[in-house]
Amino acid sequence: MGDNQAILKADGKDITMPVRSGTIGPDVIDIRKMYGESGMFTYDPGFTSTASCDSAITYIDGDEGVLLHRGYPIGQLAEHSSFMEVSYLLLNGELPSTPELSDFSRTISRHTMLHEQLMQFYRGFRRDAHPMAIMCGVVGALSAFYHDSTDIADPTHRKISSHRLIAKMPTIAAAAYKYSIGQPFLYPDNSLSYTGNFLRMTFGVPAEPYEVHPAVEKAMDRIFILHADHEQNASTSTVRLAGSSGANPFACIAAGIACLWGPAHGGANEAALNMLQEIGTPDRIPHYIERAKDKNDPFRLMGFGHRVYKNYDPRATVMQKTVREVFDALKVTDPVFEVAMRLEEMALNDPYFIEKKLFPNVDFYSGVILSAIGFPTTMFTALFALARTVGWVAQWNEMISDPGQKIGRPRQLYTGSAERDYLAIDKR
Ligand code: CMC
Repeated sequence: MGDNQAILKADGKDITMPVRSGTIGPDVIDIRKMYGESGMFTYDPGFTSTASCDSAITYIDGDEGVLLHRGYPIGQLAEHSSFMEVSYLLLNGELPSTPELSDFSRTISRHTMLHEQLMQFYRGFRRDAHPMAIMCGVVGALSAFYHDSTDIADPTHRKISSHRLIAKMPTIAAAAYKYSIGQPFLYPDNSLSYTGNFLRMTFGVPAEPYEVHPAVEKAMDRIFILHADHEQNASTSTVRLAGSSGANPFACIAAGIACLWGPAHGGANEAALNMLQEIGTPDRIPHYIERAKDKNDPFRLMGFGHRVYKNYDPRATVMQKTVREVFDALKVTDPVFEVAMRLEEMALNDPYFIEKKLFPNVDFYSGVILSAIGFPTTMFTALFALARTVGWVAQWNEMISDPGQKIGRPRQLYTGSAERDYLAIDKR
């Protein structure tokens, strides 16, 4: 490689491909002309070495444990900013001025209500439906209600549908919870903050006033910031792929929610807390560590390991600090936190985890906090989806605005039968 070119030797030919550089991070070899010149595809299941797009939103250096949104380190945003401010940043590229932030927050709060008929949808679900099943269905159904913002070629439509999605997610998620426990839905209260309003719709009841606990509101807002975006992860790539065909934004976000649900992705926070509760006491940790290392046992330490981070996930650092703050503010103790701390310590000193560079990720501690706040485990991934919606819409908007955007269409290495003739059923 040299002079910003890479040369591939294939079939006796030299194929020269341009090398492109971003602002920071590894260069990429632009292989778009490779098939035309060599007749070969590249092979990269799981996209471990493939960049699928240009993006100016989020940067991760997994080896160093760095996460930047529009250049700003996640630790600084979590410490000093608010979820509304981070949402503005992700969508618009710059931190807002005071009037810009209040205008954006007002716009979002004006879209918090759901179409009344959409509320009827919930009654079609079983009471014990998983909130993520409800979220997939209700978010997908938004496209049946908001026809006036689904022309993806129109930037104003894209903006309105982005605001609608960010604004309505808390109402949708809170209603999924209320439905599961048989309590009446609460309408949004736009005098509250984005996060305060969500807490009230989730934990309030119409029969009495609800007071938002400032420490819980702060912690929840921070959790939303930590989950807001994470560049081209599985659900974001799903949103981009769905959107690349020109599908409407509500359908694309519903696809993202479906992908996020899996235990290897957003479902890991639920799985991590279930695992910590199953472990129960520190003396049982070694047994679970041995299981995680056993190749013949499918068990993995949930909340550990990451495709990109081969260092401590910077979001996990903030999460761990937030657990302490929430526990102090609510004056709660939970033996599960002690199990989590001991498990982390033992795993970080175990050669298996050291060698494979497996560190706690964002999900390791988030379940402990969410449970202390009062959320059932089934709501955890729904909260992740709520917060990630802003990242999804920012990435979707970026893709649609890119003049070079094409439908996503991977290739394959075919390993099935070569061509053969149809056999009549009596001859098989
Ligand atoms: N416990 C035990 N071993 C593990 C773990 C774990 N949590 N994670 C990875 N490994 C081992 C794995 O068995 C493999 O070993 P070997 O090389 O001997 O086959 C090696 O480490 C590499 O793992 P991989 O599955 O090839 O790595 P990946 O990049 O495909 O997977 C991951 C990343 C996040 C899916 C995986 O680490 C995992 O399943 N972790 C548990 C689930 C989890 O916490 N997910 C949340 C991710 S962060 C939030 C989000 O993005 O949604």
